[in-house]
Amino acid sequence: MNRPFFYIANWKMYFSYQQTISWLNEYLSDLSMLAKNNNIILCPSYTTLEYAAQTCKNTHLLIGGQDCSSYAQGAHTGQISALSLSEIGCNYCIIGHSEQRSLFSNEEIEEKALRLIENNIIPILCINNSSPEQLQPALTVLSRYPSKEMLIAYEPLESIGTGIVPENRSIEEQFYAINAQLEHENIPRESYYLLYGGGVKKVSATPLKLIDRLDGFLIGGASTQFDEFTQIIDA
Ligand code: PGA
Repeated sequence: MNRPFFYIANWKMYFSYQQTISWLNEYLSDLSMLAKNNNIILCPSYTTLEYAAQTCKNTHLLIGGQDCSSYAQGAHTGQISALSLSEIGCNYCIIGHSEQRSLFSNEEIEEKALRLIENNIIPILCINNSSPEQLQPALTVLSRYPSKEMLIAYEPLESIGTGIVPENRSIEEQFYAINAQLEHENIPRESYYLLYGGGVKKVSATPLKLIDRLDGFLIGGASTQFDEFTQIIDA
């Protein structure tokens, strides 16, 4: 089975509006060359999402949001709906990132996943352990919608932003635990992808790529530096 390998650039709030536009203008053509053979998903902050989606429209680059509302619409000040993300051309959306998790329950994260699926956006579910509670959104969504896909990014808290990555074996153990729970619910392996995130850099990328069942990386800080990001892809 030839599975795609994902490189997700989570730009968090590193760049301002103008900085994001300048970055894209400077590196778009080089990055879109790389995107012909690699699944590259750029996740800028909300204000530049539409610009990024328009700019990347005729390339193989994909665009993701960094979060969405658990509600479809209504009186929810400050929130962004999955429908809006879909209308501006988002293909993916991160949910449950550990920098957001304290704000939302697992039930709300599950609702976010459902809103995304209803709007044909593929959720990138972040978890920091393989507990049944954190995996529940994937179990619910993939059992309810067998033809849909989800990306599941395991990001240990101590690795995010530190560059300290766990031993491959410890990441593999988490992947096996995730696999086992999804298999138990008869969710086929083709429906989901297992990603690692937290401290991925060019120096760690080559050894990390040896992780059994790894389908890609969720990359924060290192994805904002073009050379570092492309060397992770080339590693
Ligand atoms: P990092 O962030 O690569 O800067 O550790 C990853 C993430 O938080 O998604």
